Amino acid sequence: MPKQKTALVTGANRSIGFEIARRLAAEGYRVWLGSRDVGRGEEAARKLRDQGLDAHVLQLDVTSDESVASAIAELNRQTDHLDALVNNAGIADSFTHQPFDEPIEVVKAVYEVNTFGPIRLTQAALPLLKASDAGRVVMLSSELGSLQALLDPQNQFYGINALGYNSSKTALNAVTVSLAKAAEPFGIKINAADPGYTKTDMNGHSGYRTVEQAAEAPVRLAMLGPDGPTAGYFFDDQTLPW
Ligand SMILES: NC(=O)c1ccc[n+]([C@@H]2O[C@H](COP(=O)([O-])OP(=O)(O)OC[C@H]3O[C@@H](n4cnc5c(N)ncnc54)[C@H](OP(=O)(O)O)[C@@H]3O)[C@@H](O)[C@H]2O)c1
Repeated sequence: MPKQKTALVTGANRSIGFEIARRLAAEGYRVWLGSRDVGRGEEAARKLRDQGLDAHVLQLDVTSDESVASAIAELNRQTDHLDALVNNAGIADSFTHQPFDEPIEVVKAVYEVNTFGPIRLTQAALPLLKASDAGRVVMLSSELGSLQALLDPQNQFYGINALGYNSSKTALNAVTVSLAKAAEPFGIKINAADPGYTKTDMNGHSGYRTVEQAAEAPVRLAMLGPDGPTAGYFFDDQTLPW
């Protein structure tokens, strides 16, 4: 009998992460919703269980070595493999600052969640991903991480110059390429997905895409077959320029 598919989604207690978790669970995955607040995470997991889905909370603050280590230890007690890791948790504190005025502490805090968090967690999850027949890792990036997009005056995001946030996602793209190359010998595929400008708490619900649209590419990349890409950067089904 084939093993039940398993997935971990970070920052899954709300917004895009919750929708990604819901979709993967609806595809038959046992899903752990990473949440730094266990109460908020449990409430979200319960909503999915009430729909008959196999959803569980995992306390996880991606900025903390200790939290990541204990979350992976707990995951190891509950499963012997991980088929999909979706590094979704992110913060956007940079947007209220001009680049020359953005305090370095803010830049560091944004990198801790958006860039170092995915590195920390993906490294820690590697043994469980290797134990899968087809481990998949998805990084929630942004078109604001695309240097080519940000240098193109015709691009809709040309004027959005959030130093910490944009560069944290550019760095995440580089992390995606590096980890994807290192993961290839294990059959693990690692890709970056831009959910698009999506109506969530992150932007005061000013985005024009729904969380359902935003989750589409991350879910597809989390479930890639053996012929799927790795080290790619996608918006919906289009490849984005780095
Ligand atoms: N919305 C957009 O337009 C847009 C566009 C491009 C890319 N993205 C990216 O898509 C991802 C999801 O964005 P969103 O709009 O859904 O954001 P959101 O509504 O602000 O939700 C962010 C999620 O990340 C969690 N989180 C924050 N810091 C964390 C930490 N240290 N450890 C673990 N979880 C943490 C939050 O948990 P709490 O509830 O505990 O705060 C929340 O669950 C982010 O990576 C974002 O950069 C979003």
